[in-house]
Amino acid sequence: MAMWRPLTRIRHDARPGRWPSAEVASASALFRPVRIGPATLSSRTWVPAMVPWRANSEGDVTAAVLDWYGRFGRGQPGALVVEATGIRDMPSGPLLRIGADRFRPGLTDLARRIRESSEGTTRSFIQLIDFLRVRRRPNAERYFAHFLVVTDAHRGRLGLNDASDEEIRRVLVRLPRHRLVQVLSPRELEALEYGARERVTDLHVEEIRRLPETLPALFAQAAVRARECGFDGVELHFAHAYTMASFLSATNTRPDGYGGSLEQRLRLPLEVFKRVRESVGSDFVVGCRMLADECIDGGHDLDDAVAISGALAAAGMDFLSLSRGGKFDDALSPKVGEAAYPYTGPSGYECMPSYYSDAQGPFGRNVAACARIRSALRAAGHMAPIIAVGGIHNFEQAEHVLQSGQADIVGLARQALADPDWFRKVRLGRGGEVRLCRYTNYCEALDQRHREVTCELWDRLDLDKSGVPLAADGKRRLLPPEWRP
Ligand SMILES: Cc1cc2nc3c(=O)[nH]c(=O)nc-3n(C[C@H](O)[C@H](O)[C@H](O)COP(=O)(O)O)c2cc1C
Ligand code: SF4
Repeated sequence: MAMWRPLTRIRHDARPGRWPSAEVASASALFRPVRIGPATLSSRTWVPAMVPWRANSEGDVTAAVLDWYGRFGRGQPGALVVEATGIRDMPSGPLLRIGADRFRPGLTDLARRIRESSEGTTRSFIQLIDFLRVRRRPNAERYFAHFLVVTDAHRGRLGLNDASDEEIRRVLVRLPRHRLVQVLSPRELEALEYGARERVTDLHVEEIRRLPETLPALFAQAAVRARECGFDGVELHFAHAYTMASFLSATNTRPDGYGGSLEQRLRLPLEVFKRVRESVGSDFVVGCRMLADECIDGGHDLDDAVAISGALAAAGMDFLSLSRGGKFDDALSPKVGEAAYPYTGPSGYECMPSYYSDAQGPFGRNVAACARIRSALRAAGHMAPIIAVGGIHNFEQAEHVLQSGQADIVGLARQALADPDWFRKVRLGRGGEVRLCRYTNYCEALDQRHREVTCELWDRLDLDKSGVPLAADGKRRLLPPEWRP
């Protein structure tokens, strides 16, 4: 599937900056502990959630999942957020799940592996996600033969009032696009060109209408399991293209008291949080990931995000991890047989900006928004730590974000994928050995195709060495090479 590219394409290379000596690192803000609700992080470093596609089709923790997170744990970041993990007990492909008690043994092993591999240095959080159905893009023959519900509206627009359903289907499949635009509704056209996608506003679907009744308990049960499995906390996924972000979105027009005004859009997220908190108690970290800006036409902007973060912090969230964009609304049309991917359009670009960028570049693109949200929270007396993420890769950059009060914790996602030992190397004064991320988004392309995520900087190294686990295609190693100080 193609990716959207900014019109101005300037190449921006990640730079190492000046790496600190061990003494400078130990006196830095970055390697100072920070309180996060009832817990303490050993440093202000954070690996945000990244789906590596290592679970099996039942959503279980596999040996590959344990090895993956164990490898990140060895780098000893302050916090490691386990990938988006589904809270429902329903099949969702090789995406980790926490929606039933049978997942507990695997998840317990996972929390233990992070604790042991990091020698107790890293706090483990797990990201809890709910998402609605997104169907693959059908070919036109299949769509018109099986999926489209033929109505009198189609007959009227085609001027074929007496035609049977079958005749209408046969006409539609031969119609050029400019005519289809006139005959199909916007949702029907979307189902044809993108694949059908459920929305939180589809109140005619009972399951979606009842989300405000069902989701608080599902999130709460998942959070209780996370606690029982030994995680240090949960991150409620209120960001990107998924259910909770869709409730918060300015595009949410639900007429049932859970959409429309900002207050009503906040209602379900606050009810979910309240139920989770009541279920896990106050001595377990509960925070969320949310958008500093939806980055879509008609979406919520930074002003709204200030209000949203204020309400969530006032409710007692232990942290707010700020991302941006990543929406279906402006995603590109996928190939036939593939599903739309919310990181292909302009808002997806804002979420994971790559090295070909506009003049602003991909590095620290979300930091100004984090700073604005943090200062508004502090002015209102809310102390929830803010985690800034997006193109952060060198020490000077990370330290500046903290020293200037733009955020309390710095998240490195792709940089940690490129080199999970970044944290330990920098702390030990060995920053010169860091493998700098190139922000090519090779990893993101693998994520998009649901293939095991790896990094181009290390996945071809020593492929013939014995004991190196390989991806299903046999051409890439699954884990970064070891580094020992
Ligand atoms: C392969 C991959 C998988 C990701 N999966 C998730 C996810 O499960 N949940 C989430 O909130 N963000 C996810 N993200 C987004 C990252 O957490 C992060 O916000 C983004 O990559 C920008 O940070 P960076 O510039 O440090 O990489 C993913 C990113 C990548 C590259
Ligand atoms: S593949 Fe590696 S170098 Fe490229 S963006 Fe991903 S982590 Fe960075």
